[in-house]
Amino acid sequence: MNLNKKKIIIANMKMNGSLSFNESFLKNIKINFNKFKNLNIGLCLPYPYLFQAQKFLQNTNINWGGQNVAKFENGPHTGEVSAKMLQEFGAKYVIVGHSERSTAYCESDENIAAKFEKIKKYKMIPVLCVGETLIEREAGIMESVVSSQIKTIIKIFGNEIFENSIIAYEPIWAIGSDMAASPDQANKMCIFIRNLVCENKKEFKNFNIIYGGSVNPKNALQLFASESLDGVLIGRASVNFDEFSHICSRAENGK
Ligand code: PGA
Repeated sequence: MNLNKKKIIIANMKMNGSLSFNESFLKNIKINFNKFKNLNIGLCLPYPYLFQAQKFLQNTNINWGGQNVAKFENGPHTGEVSAKMLQEFGAKYVIVGHSERSTAYCESDENIAAKFEKIKKYKMIPVLCVGETLIEREAGIMESVVSSQIKTIIKIFGNEIFENSIIAYEPIWAIGSDMAASPDQANKMCIFIRNLVCENKKEFKNFNIIYGGSVNPKNALQLFASESLDGVLIGRASVNFDEFSHICSRAENGK
């Protein structure tokens, strides 16, 4: 990880929390997280609780965001939430293409690309999740799987759309499994992704690559030591205050 750059910590709180849990969790974060000067932290909450993040985290060094977004601007799309709505609640980050959604709701790469563009349009930072299944890794085709997920966006909008955005490499087999990718596996894929997006050695401003999948206080240190990773995406451990804060301390202090 580049030591001069602030590390990125995105919490994917998934479908967890409640008004009362969030109130104490967010207050705790507000009080205890201002010591993290070298981190860009974003909490991605379920939609109904974004107002709580706005209420408790406004004017702190912690940002917040959503876990999904509609590909439409507005209109007859029952159950959907637009990028503009997320922006109104002060969202900075929006997770898009998470495998728990693309698998359960059969989301296509084209849909994900359209959502990515909407997030950019409303000046938020997409956190695009890409990754392969275990079968695909065992077959040795993980790079072509990840490449086709990313290339769909490049084909429609060009590489430049990745300026001010994050790609999270999340191998599907590592999510919720206690079987995180090794730092070497994560490193290799992140280098592959950077080369794919920044072809011809072009670097895009604020383009970052992070790793997600069973990140915990034990494996965080090794992951943070990886040269090519700009940060992590944390699921389960992000709704446990002690674990979350432990991971952030490791990112901040390198120990
Ligand atoms: P996990 O989830 O940390 O619980 O494995 C990561 C994710 O799904 O983003």
